[in-house]
Formats: sequence, structure tokens, C-alpha cells
Amino acid sequence: METLGPGGFRSLSNSPSWPSGVADDHTPFEFSTAFGIDEPATVRVLVEPTAAEPGPAANMDAALDVLDSLARRHGLPMDRFDAVRDLFLPSDPQGDFSLWFSLVFSAARAPVIKVYLNPEVRGEAEAPLLVGEGLARLGYGAAHQTIIDHARRRGDGLDRYSFFALDLTESSGSRAKVYLSHQDATPDDVVVAASAAHDVDPEAVRDFCVLTGGRAEPFTDRPLISSYTFLPDDVDRPSGYSLYVPVRSYVNDDSEAHLRVLATLDQHGIDPTAFRSALDSVARRPLAEGVGLIAHVSLRIGAPRPGVTVYLSSEAHTTASPRVATLVS
Ligand code: TRP
Repeated sequence: METLGPGGFRSLSNSPSWPSGVADDHTPFEFSTAFGIDEPATVRVLVEPTAAEPGPAANMDAALDVLDSLARRHGLPMDRFDAVRDLFLPSDPQGDFSLWFSLVFSAARAPVIKVYLNPEVRGEAEAPLLVGEGLARLGYGAAHQTIIDHARRRGDGLDRYSFFALDLTESSGSRAKVYLSHQDATPDDVVVAASAAHDVDPEAVRDFCVLTGGRAEPFTDRPLISSYTFLPDDVDRPSGYSLYVPVRSYVNDDSEAHLRVLATLDQHGIDPTAFRSALDSVARRPLAEGVGLIAHVSLRIGAPRPGVTVYLSSEAHTTASPRVATLVS
């Protein structure tokens, strides 16, 4: 609760005090459950801290206060965040947000805190400079061209940097991630994006698009999203790649999304029990009576932990009505 910042106490009233981009209904948090093969599931919550009087700069300050108290309480290593903060936290932040967190809980490990920074915080045109410089300061400068060659090939602003994220953990397993959204992308486009990572089978991404998105054509509604995961030993390319499919835009209702997730878990040999209980714990309505509870489904390939993650909205403010299947006349 505390990570929601001062505005968090108000923002669960009927209308949100700040139009958070975390969830479609502007709730400033979202749950996700990550599944691996032969690994316990982890539960995560993505949070946007907001100020009592929310606004771009006030929210950034509120988020920094939250981060400060988390860092002191948990002894978080802040060196990598400190190395890039002046790039991503200007005094007049632009864009939809400046600082989000996720808290990752698992049975096996101590909670991990991850920060998400906004590459477009100085405007869309500056995003490549921020990402390139951020990667360079973390020791991955040579990888920026790899990202451009694989995930920003299309021009016209179709491929945009959406997040620059860091794990605030001791350096041995700690990751840096770069996310891009791909408007109107085809499964082929994201197969190329995936092929930037070490030792992955990029074709797995194509099957995942078809199974979760129900299509092989361009994803013309909400965009497909890629992320690249950098581990400490990486130099000019990432170790891991993840694809996020905004399944809610490509189904009529959540019962359809649910079936797609079950098919995906089955295809990847993942026991669905933990997913069923996660869904039961957030769903407060029949699945067929709305759409968007199951927001994204992602596939992780390559190091460090391949698997599937499902993102679940709280629908704390509103539920979107199911789409009516259109009959072609
Ligand atoms: N709601 C935003 C979106 O759909 C941001 C976001 C929340 C997101 N959770 C996510 C993006 C998971 C990718 C994956 O883009």
C-alpha cells in the first residue's frame, strides 16, 4: 500500500485521481504471475506511486520518496539506478509516467524490487539517446545497435521505446531491460526482434503470437511489446527476450482469454494450478462478463528464466464490457 505513494489512499475511490497507464481503467497497480518449468510461480505487482496532488513532476517526487524508503529499509543496491537517474528523471518530466515499480514475491527468494523508467520522459525524439546512453553507462553500449537492427527496423515511429527497467538487487543476477512497443507488427516482425538474443529459438515467438493473439496477421489494436534482458556478462546483445501480447485486445471476453492462456501453459508444459488460483483470487465476476481482466500474456525465452507470465488487472475502478462478436455480412 505504501508503495502507491500519498495519492494511493485516494485513488481507489470511484474515479481515479490520476489517469495511471498501469491498467486500462487507470488503477495504479496490476498483478502478474510468472510461471517457469519446474520452478515455483512468482507473484508480482506493478505500481505507479502518485502524489496527494498528482501531476507529472509531483508523482516523480512521490515515487522517489517511496524508493528512498524502500532502499533504506531493504538495503537496496542503488548504484545502477544512480548511474542513469539524471537521464530519466528530469525536473519537467513529459509523457505518461516517470517512475513505476514492481515488487516480485516468490517462495524461493527474498522480494525483488524493479524500477521502470520512461525513455520518452524528455519527448519521443530523445528516447533513442536516453536508451543508448543508459545502456552505455551500464556497460552494454555495444548492444544498442543490436536493438536498433532487430527491433527498430520499420521507421515511421512504429517501434517505440516504452520502458528502461532495472532490478535493484545485488549485481550477480541483476538485470537491465529495454522494452519496445511495436504498433501494427506481424509475428514475423517479432521473430526478427527475438533473434537479437543469445541462444534462443525465435520461432517460439511466432507460435506464441498465434496461440495467444489468435492471428497471424498484423496486431493492429494494442501493440505487441518486446523486452530485452541484459545480464552482467552481456556485451553486445541481450541474454533474454520476452514478447508481451495484449491478449485483451484480441478476444471478445475473458473466458476466451482464459482458454488461450490454458492452451499456452499446456504447450509449454506448465501446470495450470497456480494460474487458476491467481485468476480466482482477482476475478470478482464471471469471465464472460467482461474483457481485460487478463491483460497481457508474455513468453520469456533465453536466460535467465524462460517461461510464461500472465498479467491480471484488478478492475478496481471499472470493468470493460465484452466485445460482441461481429458477424461478417
Ligand atoms: N498498461 C500499459 C500497457 O498495456 C503498461 C503495462 C502494464 C504493460 N503492464 C504491462 C506493458 C505488461 C507490457 C506488459 O502497455
